[in-house]
Amino acid sequence: MRVVYLNPCGQLGGAETSLLEILASLRAAAPDWELWLVLGEDGPLAEEARSLGVRVLLEHFPPALARLGDSQTGPLALLAQLARAAVASVRYKIRLARVVKSLHPDVIHSNGFKMHLLGAWTRPGRTPLAWHIHDYVSTRRLASRLLCLSQRASNVAIANSQSVAADLRTLMPDLPIVPIYNAIDLDRFSTAGTKLDLDSLSGLPPAEPGTIRVGLLATFARWKGQQVFLRALARLAPEVPIRGYIIGGPIYQTNGSQWSRQELEEQARSLGLERKVGFTGFVRDTPAALRSLDIAVHASTAPEPFGMVIIEAMACGKAVIAAQAGGASELFTDGENALGHAPGDEAGLARQILRLVDDRELRERLGKAGRRAAETHFHGKRLAQELLAVYRKVGAIPDDSPSTAPTPQPTAAGSEVC
Ligand code: GLC
Repeated sequence: MRVVYLNPCGQLGGAETSLLEILASLRAAAPDWELWLVLGEDGPLAEEARSLGVRVLLEHFPPALARLGDSQTGPLALLAQLARAAVASVRYKIRLARVVKSLHPDVIHSNGFKMHLLGAWTRPGRTPLAWHIHDYVSTRRLASRLLCLSQRASNVAIANSQSVAADLRTLMPDLPIVPIYNAIDLDRFSTAGTKLDLDSLSGLPPAEPGTIRVGLLATFARWKGQQVFLRALARLAPEVPIRGYIIGGPIYQTNGSQWSRQELEEQARSLGLERKVGFTGFVRDTPAALRSLDIAVHASTAPEPFGMVIIEAMACGKAVIAAQAGGASELFTDGENALGHAPGDEAGLARQILRLVDDRELRERLGKAGRRAAETHFHGKRLAQELLAVYRKVGAIPDDSPSTAPTPQPTAAGSEVC
């Protein structure tokens, strides 16, 4: 059995971390399978995948295609981008088609809008194609139109939450859609293990003993809410013993969709937070960064399709405050294993931070319950079983194949998990 995964970028954003867990969980569940990963860009994802025994091929996106993105672009700029990307994409499509054909895949599994389209345009013959949808499609003008036009070439869409599945269903009612929650490595994302010196990473003097460390770990995509986090911190009285950390960096190539570090530092300065907030830059060792915090904040301003960092921080036993909307709200129960706040509500976020700063017992209780929830719902075995069921459903695995594990029982993905 040979699965070919297609992913546009080589950096480790949420969709790529999710892909790594897929690869790791299938390695464990079906060690005899050949897993290939075709990437449009080199980066840490390639190295991590290779270390799992996945064969990686780099088919670099031409720059015009790599930069194409419709999330923050006006219609005219988008048209200009499209014109530039069109010629490059046609040439790329021919190259990719050759590569995919030479691999003789039993199933193609694509990640990211560009690869969904390229997968649809390049799949050899009737090779089953599974689109793995990690984001809301209906809000993306260009991507949603192009995907709708190409949906007949896809056999199934895997959605990372019920909420993303529902969004997709409104656009493509005839496409089979299977919600599958992401998983994480519960040994890496654990309560015990190395920590980082977030102060020195941020170039700040060591914090006073007793300081509560509150951090937001995310890419610098504009909707990840770094500005809401900063404004929430600015609302707290100066004597509240906290230090904030913005952990991450602008890792994507797409046009206009990200904050620059300078922009965020400027916002922190204008709020008088320069000594209260540190910027660590991109950190590869996410579990160590999360373990170094007392409180992990997720503050996306738009409904979060899933929110890997929420389950990662829960698995590390941290008290989590998350923006309660979209798929993210399926991951936790407010007050039981994390705290919620409304997306963009800086006053609400400030209140929840203060509540946790003042209540050590609550932080510990949420941390323990978060870890239990992660162990119950977000482990790789469940993920592998659900993926095998999808590959079987699209005809990639013969029903009598020895690799085929028993049909999984309905799992968390069938309902809200917590
Ligand atoms: C995308 C989504 C994010 C999700 C990740 C993994 O990056 O925006 O919410 O956690 O994919 O599915």
